[in-house]
Amino acid sequence: MYAFLFRPRQLAACAAGLALAAAAAAAAPVVGNPQAGQVVFKLCASCHQVGPRARGGFGPQLTGVIGRKAASTGDYHYSEAMRKSGIVWSEERLAAFIRDPDRVVPGTRMRFWGISDAQKIADLLAYLKAGAQ
Ligand code: HEC
Repeated sequence: MYAFLFRPRQLAACAAGLALAAAAAAAAPVVGNPQAGQVVFKLCASCHQVGPRARGGFGPQLTGVIGRKAASTGDYHYSEAMRKSGIVWSEERLAAFIRDPDRVVPGTRMRFWGISDAQKIADLLAYLKAGAQ
């Protein structure tokens, strides 16, 4: 019934608008914002520390983690899965790990439901890269 309230021309304009928005979203690279990333890091902070005085706790410290070899901090006892992963935490690897830890390192001890929002991941990476050295 309610569909008759929309005239075809309006529907067509609406569909064109959506297509444009989708094209813009696909074309624009997601740019991370370190300040927003600091907020996202709260999801990690119950287990991880960053900054000059960070130490291993429930999870390893993440200061300067981008470019770091996996399982390479001295004060944390990693799972065998992490020690044998052979990973270097590039931005891509880290983004995939945050999205789904078990998929990137099967058997990892990091129990995390994952973040799937590309903007949040980009923000978090920007924070880890810039603000948290
Ligand atoms: C519930 C606790 C918990 C949360 C929340 C958590 N982690 Fe972890 N994380 C761990 C544990 C435990 C390990 C060690 C895993 C292992 O040894 O298998 C780890 C390992 C890692 C590593 C590997 C570090 C290294 O030195 O190789 C990275 C990177 C990492 N976490 C990033 C994150 C980020 C980013 C977040 C937030 C989005 C996060 N984690 C949230 C517990 C957590």
